[in-house]
Amino acid sequence: MQSRRQAQQQQNQNQGLATRAVHGGQRPEENQWQAIVTPIVTSVTNKQNEPGSQRGNQNSLQGNPTRESLEQVLANLDNANCAVTAPSGLAAIRAAANLLRNGDQIVIGNDTNPRTKRLLKEVISRGGIQVDSADMSNLRDVENAIKQNTRMILIETPANPMMKIADIQAIAQLAQKKQKSDNWTQRILVAVDNSTLTPALQRPLDLGADLAITSLTNTMNGHGDVIMGNVSTNDNDLANALRNNQEAEGAVPSPIDCMLVERGLKTLPLRMEQIQRSALQIANALEKNQNVDKVLHPWLKSHPQNDVAQRQSDGHSGVLSVIIKGNGEQAKRALKNLRLVSNAQSVGGCETTACIPAQSEWGNQSQEERNRIGLQDNLIQISVGLENTEDILKDLEQALGSK
Ligand SMILES: Cc1ncc(COP(=O)(O)O)c(C=O)c1O
Repeated sequence: MQSRRQAQQQQNQNQGLATRAVHGGQRPEENQWQAIVTPIVTSVTNKQNEPGSQRGNQNSLQGNPTRESLEQVLANLDNANCAVTAPSGLAAIRAAANLLRNGDQIVIGNDTNPRTKRLLKEVISRGGIQVDSADMSNLRDVENAIKQNTRMILIETPANPMMKIADIQAIAQLAQKKQKSDNWTQRILVAVDNSTLTPALQRPLDLGADLAITSLTNTMNGHGDVIMGNVSTNDNDLANALRNNQEAEGAVPSPIDCMLVERGLKTLPLRMEQIQRSALQIANALEKNQNVDKVLHPWLKSHPQNDVAQRQSDGHSGVLSVIIKGNGEQAKRALKNLRLVSNAQSVGGCETTACIPAQSEWGNQSQEERNRIGLQDNLIQISVGLENTEDILKDLEQALGSK
């Protein structure tokens, strides 16, 4: 029989996204004060009725009401049965990778963000996991990377800063075709890092993925004051394995941070609506700027995978890349001339930021790695925030003009 919570979850999933973002985690009838806003419960241990008998969880590693509330909203937004939070986006990717075993192979995009690459290639690989790269925007390349021991394909789409798109549904179908068993330990799991678009604009599980991963640090929380991550799934076996690993590893976020993220999520659909409108307007204007060579934004008609982007998502985020006419020194000078926009490496906050990826997160990657994805020193990545569009554009244009 369906539990009350499952029935509530199902009912919520028939509601619009903005409604679910506000109400998804709220259960006022389940707390003693009938508080509408989820209470912060900080206790790490809970009283036993008598030895061996417990009403709820023994301790907050097993479960915490504030965390459970957040996980309920996250599952709701991802159209998932289960969400398992982690202390950072990287820890969420680690939680997904922890489903693999010694000898298994994981395929990642060659444009996967460098911190994820570092985690997988320097840490996870030590446990005997083979990590190989492919061009995720090219299905043939992904197929060629699949080996006898492939157990996971990790897609990041769109991937910053080159803004290439991977076709989630096509890759999920490819993984399905190569499947030799229904047992999850033998399957090729498709995991999507959906941090850039968030479930407000793209829902990987609906497109056939097994796992939807988000860094809650960036756009999801949206206020730049929490580091956290999440993995959602509809597969009960995967959910049990993730939940079991979460407790076994002790990799849980703090209840105070959970409250902050739940608060941030209430405005996610609203923020994404404004941010994507503003970013597209700015992308269109910069495409006509005489100091700009190229603008990379998946919803521009000039983007080579505009059709895939439009098919699999409901819009694009605030992240776009601008290749200026000139070299890296001129790009640096343009950033130094910014007045309103901050020169910072960040994605999805309220404040607009700009950075040169070759000098920041891609800075410690080899020139060969950067060449492989076509990343040049004159590429500026912009994360559009919530300021007035005209103010952001005016600042960017004066900075680019004075390069
Ligand atoms: C696409 C993507 N995935 C994962 C991460 C890692 O997230 P966190 O900083 O929360 O560990 C980042 C960080 O910027 C990111 O951009």
